[in-house]
Amino acid sequence: MSNIVYIAASLDGFIADKDGGLNWLQSVPNPENSDLGFADFLDSIDCIVMGRNTFETVAAMDIQWPYPKHVFVLSNALKSVPEKLKGRVEIIKGSPDEITAMLDELGYERKYIDGGKTIQIFLECDRIDEMIISRLPILLGGGTPLFGVLPEHLMFEHTATDVLLNEIVVSRYRRKRLSATEKK
Ligand SMILES: NC(=O)c1ccc[n+]([C@@H]2O[C@H](COP(=O)([O-])OP(=O)(O)OC[C@H]3O[C@@H](n4cnc5c(N)ncnc54)[C@H](OP(=O)(O)O)[C@@H]3O)[C@@H](O)[C@H]2O)c1
Repeated sequence: MSNIVYIAASLDGFIADKDGGLNWLQSVPNPENSDLGFADFLDSIDCIVMGRNTFETVAAMDIQWPYPKHVFVLSNALKSVPEKLKGRVEIIKGSPDEITAMLDELGYERKYIDGGKTIQIFLECDRIDEMIISRLPILLGGGTPLFGVLPEHLMFEHTATDVLLNEIVVSRYRRKRLSATEKK
């Protein structure tokens, strides 16, 4: 069972610019319009857990719904999802521990956790097991931060780094949890 972050960030650690914009994600020339491995990643997970702000951003885009897996939207405010997304999107709420336990129970082993605040809340509770972070060579100077304050240090093990389009550095990390004896 794993909770996995897969996200693109600026060099200064933002996932959206000061206006909430994402156009900078297209700032690296991509002549063959590669999806940079996103479809393969989506194949590898069992469901998606995203914050309301990320859901509303994607739902407002003039594109086909991009997710082939069930999406759980975290929200205290949303009461329903648009008609066209019923059956594919479900609203849930709760702590990262409760959400993880509930989705584990339903058999979702690999959960893609998406959205800035959402990732931060899951990290605060030490509920992120893997992170795949794509760094674009741009400084946004402000915006929606990927990371926030944590109650304690969290160690990760670097497992791989690839450079895509000669510009985007994709690094993979796995949470390194100390055993009870190592902690002593
Ligand atoms: N660069 C990238 O790859 C990337 C990826 C994803 C998103 N983004 C961008 O990041 C921005 C969104 O991130 P964000 O930090 O603003 O927020 P977010 O995590 O998408 O959404 C935050 C909201 O999720 C709800 N939420 C979170 N945890 C909850 C819980 N445990 N229980 C109930 N509700 C919970 C709350 O909604 P309520 O107020 O309804 O309670 C909260 O206000 C957007 O601009 C998006 O486009 C970028």
